[in-house]
Amino acid sequence: MSVSKSKTVYVCNACGAQSTKWSGQCFDCGAWNSIAEETVTVSSAKSHPRFSGYAGDSVIQRLADVVGQQELHTSTGIPELDRVLGNGLVLGAVILIGGDPGIGKSTLLLQALAALGEQLSTLYVTGEESLHQVSMRAQRLGLSLDKQCLLAETRVERILELARQEQPQVIVIDSIQTIYTETLQSAPGAVAQLRESTAMLVRYAKQTNTAIFLVGHVTKEGTLAGPRVLEHMVDTVLYFEGDSGSSFRVIRAIKNRFGAVNELGVFAMTDRGLREVSNPSAIFLSRHPDPVSGSVVMVTREGSRPLLVEVQALVDESHLSNPRRVTLGLEHNRLAMLLAVLHRHGGIATYDQDVFVNVVGGVRLTETAADLAVILAVLSSLRNRPLAVDLVVFGEVGLAGEIRPVPGGQERLKEAAKHGFKRAVVPKTNAPKRGSIEGMEIVTAERLADALEILR
Ligand code: TYD
Ligand code: MG
Repeated sequence: MSVSKSKTVYVCNACGAQSTKWSGQCFDCGAWNSIAEETVTVSSAKSHPRFSGYAGDSVIQRLADVVGQQELHTSTGIPELDRVLGNGLVLGAVILIGGDPGIGKSTLLLQALAALGEQLSTLYVTGEESLHQVSMRAQRLGLSLDKQCLLAETRVERILELARQEQPQVIVIDSIQTIYTETLQSAPGAVAQLRESTAMLVRYAKQTNTAIFLVGHVTKEGTLAGPRVLEHMVDTVLYFEGDSGSSFRVIRAIKNRFGAVNELGVFAMTDRGLREVSNPSAIFLSRHPDPVSGSVVMVTREGSRPLLVEVQALVDESHLSNPRRVTLGLEHNRLAMLLAVLHRHGGIATYDQDVFVNVVGGVRLTETAADLAVILAVLSSLRNRPLAVDLVVFGEVGLAGEIRPVPGGQERLKEAAKHGFKRAVVPKTNAPKRGSIEGMEIVTAERLADALEILR
């Protein structure tokens, strides 16, 4: 028998923390003015949908018996999307795709569904655009329309009811912020709604082995709107990166239960939708015909693919008591740390200079291999001394002024050689052990001072 009663709780819209009384600041995450009142119906654990079993009665199994059932990866027809998903789409997986408005989430998923429609049955649920708008877009993208199923609905119960009837193998929900469940009284987009609707969709996906894509909006701060709980509930989280000014779009896997994280997929937005960029190194490099100061090319390895990117720095005399440190595509604190290392171990002071660092092409560098490139770019700009155009660098810089090795040194050097680079400054342990890379002169650095030699 199920017992249910209503009660009022106060939920933080930023982190999802619940409390029994209202306060101006969330006691959990510290956000101000984020607490909203919500009425929830509490039912006994047995009848609560979230606690009901995933698929029948549970039994204990041996791991060895389970391993045999390998998950099957289906190609989405878009190799760059397959790459970030971990070699294709797994049925039963729930994938959250986040990104700024207008960056191309709906476009990408419509294109992916059209390609998946060749092998699997699909359903596109739109809560934001009208059916007419979606079909206009599909037409403009030149997608085949006959296999596409559309639904304009925001009530999760109705979506799941129709899904049970039609049994699509892949569902896109665009977007999760517009979806609501009638079991809760709060407005769509409220934390409790997001969490409950997602929980219901995840449960449906697991029970029926359906793949579900959830489109998620991003707040001004650049994180997914709604609490981080959404990220914990789904199998894969993908983020669109890229500046709105450029036509290039990068998708990064932040979390993936079926593949590697930090894998990048690169696209270009064209008048006929998103096109794949199969040779991304070429687009992030703005090759200057003549050497310019403040520009350094590095080889990053976000995910499993080495990528050449240009790091630019501008160092300019500051008239502020607190000189500016601005980064684009790089962590701000990392720059502050590198400037301190440059001062302490290189004897080069920047306390009276504004320092701006930009990673060209809107790509975001998360790995420490960019350290050496940032330091050299800063120094090159400060001294107004350009580095050779055929030089690449990579390496982590430690607080003691040591240059530390990074993973995948060989691969990085090969990628640079492939693009015609002739010289590389790399950590000592990253130099090829046997033989050499054809056409590449390799300078190894153990300490920061060794690396700074090239700008003497
Ligand atoms: P959209 O997929 O609607 O973004 P999201 O769902 O992430 O909000 O993308 C809309 C943007 O993409 C819009 O600014 C126009 C641009 N666009 C193109 O440049 N070419 C196209 O073929 C399409 C469909 C959109
Ligand atoms: Mg959209």
